[in-house]
Amino acid sequence: MQQADRDTDTDSAAYWENHYSRLDTRWGTKPNIVLKDLVTDLAPTPGAALDLGCGHGGDAIWLAAIGWDVTAVDVARTALDRVAEGARAAGVSDRVHPVRHDLARTFPEGEFGLVSASYFHTPVEIPRVQVLRRAAEAVAPDGLLVVVEHASAAPWSSHVGPDVRFPTAQESLDSLQLGEGWHTERCDAPRRTATGPQGQSASVTDNVIALRRTG
Ligand SMILES: C[S@@+](CC[C@H](N)C(=O)[O-])C[C@H]1O[C@@H](n2cnc3c(N)ncnc32)[C@H](O)[C@@H]1O
Repeated sequence: MQQADRDTDTDSAAYWENHYSRLDTRWGTKPNIVLKDLVTDLAPTPGAALDLGCGHGGDAIWLAAIGWDVTAVDVARTALDRVAEGARAAGVSDRVHPVRHDLARTFPEGEFGLVSASYFHTPVEIPRVQVLRRAAEAVAPDGLLVVVEHASAAPWSSHVGPDVRFPTAQESLDSLQLGEGWHTERCDAPRRTATGPQGQSASVTDNVIALRRTG
């Protein structure tokens, strides 16, 4: 199998490779503000982190810069190459490990003090809840599972029409059916000002779920 075939071997890979091949390389290179605040408050001691659907690596590189050893996972090789490049430029390539998985099919091995899925949304049909449940299994004792997701559509979003109903944070949390052994640190829907691809801004809502493994 040729490298190019391998990198578009699933619908997700084909979709996201195409997406990143057209995307401005600066997009998504800054950490998500919600994750930044949350880690600062709830996971101040660095360890091993897993960033699911890392995109251009804004979160992964920021986490590495504050001392985390980050496994950065994405289905798009193009994105992962840019994460590696960004990590080199930031002087943290020894703490950022870009790994390609189609998370609907395979999942990285290991246990992590922080497992984060920031805006892990895709128009491709995938068993997202199953992936997030698998993500929960990868959280070490006392570790944190963080899911930050859109709870409203930005006006520039090409994927979501204005009539789409987003789940509430509680509905998202319930859908994970994690049962005992978790303490809910955050389950809310704060608003923030988002910046679009043309530099435009709009007020949007996120669902923020942060769960600490207690059992
Ligand atoms: C909306 S972007 C979010 C990127 C980044 N986390 C951020 O906050 O800017 C969703 C990311 O998930 C990745 N992704 C989508 N489906 C995937 C899958 N099945 N396996 C692994 N990564 C996937 C995409 O390539 C993309 O980078």
